[in-house]
Amino acid sequence: MSLLTDKIKSLLTIETSQVLSSQEKGKKRATVISICSQKGGVGKTTTAVNLSTAIAKYHGKRVLVVDLDPQGHVEKSLGALIPEGVEYSPMSTILSSKKGNVMDGVIPTELENFFISPGDKTLYETESLLATKIGKEYILAEAMKVARSHFDFIFFDCPPNLGNLTLNALVASDFCLVPCEMSVLAFEGVNDLVETLETVNERLNPRLKILGVLFTRVDGRNVNMNQIIESNIKNFFRGKVFKTQIAINTALNKAQLEGLPVFDNYPSSSGAVNYRELAEELVKKLKRQNAAQGGGPLSQAASG
Ligand SMILES: Nc1ncnc2c1ncn2[C@@H]1O[C@H](COP(=O)(O)OP(=O)(O)OP(=O)(O)O)[C@@H](O)[C@H]1O
Ligand SMILES: [Mg+2]
Repeated sequence: MSLLTDKIKSLLTIETSQVLSSQEKGKKRATVISICSQKGGVGKTTTAVNLSTAIAKYHGKRVLVVDLDPQGHVEKSLGALIPEGVEYSPMSTILSSKKGNVMDGVIPTELENFFISPGDKTLYETESLLATKIGKEYILAEAMKVARSHFDFIFFDCPPNLGNLTLNALVASDFCLVPCEMSVLAFEGVNDLVETLETVNERLNPRLKILGVLFTRVDGRNVNMNQIIESNIKNFFRGKVFKTQIAINTALNKAQLEGLPVFDNYPSSSGAVNYRELAEELVKKLKRQNAAQGGGPLSQAASG
């Protein structure tokens, strides 16, 4: 009985403004950002979760995070924000249907203006199923048409490879944000990633631009090593490296285990400060650029 009451209560805490129509178009025009790197464990999900919640919480923007990783880490990382008993279509179903609509997978959360579309294990099969479809790279972009009109920002948390799911994310995006671990292995795979981004840009999605490379898991004690890695990456990505860096911070691990953004229980930790600063830098960068284009679409080259 009390379990049921809790469930109803949690559903009632979601304001009606959070509930969106899945078919009707809204009036917004989302900036869509893929968080991608084929390297595992570099902080893609940590960035997707904390950057997106910071933009909803501190900038009042309506934000959706779509989990394209079969590991389903976004849902695990934000489990405490998700009300029980909500029905939704998992991303694997949306991407396998003829007329899939991302809106069918959107769940309102207990954080105002913040929504998620969870990933699921079946996405492993979706990855190979997509390979057999005509126009396989455009399936997510097609399914995003209504969703783009309901949010200010949409983030894709990509799996750690450059397979069909990541390709679909890049084709459906305006920008790509590349988390890069501050380690001697930082350059591993960078060429493959850049080649993929260039190919997508030339052949499939001319809008796609690199928004920035984000240094993650920075250990402030390795001053000399950090300087060498930073200057090499900056030379390579010319003007496309975020000023904000994310330091190693256990609050980020703890928050992930608790299923909450780092701001809830560790608001003054370096992890919280860094991700708030990143949100600020990103929003300002896009605003500047939008103003430079006379209020035109945000989907042009992101200048440094
Ligand atoms: N700045 C940080 N400080 C401390 N721990 C971190 C930091 N960033 C990420 N982590 C931890 O590192 C692990 C991997 O991070 P995360 O899941 O974000 O990487 P990922 O790139 O999404 O991994 P995958 O490629 O498997 O999807 C997690 O346990 C996370 O809590
Ligand atoms: Mg991840």
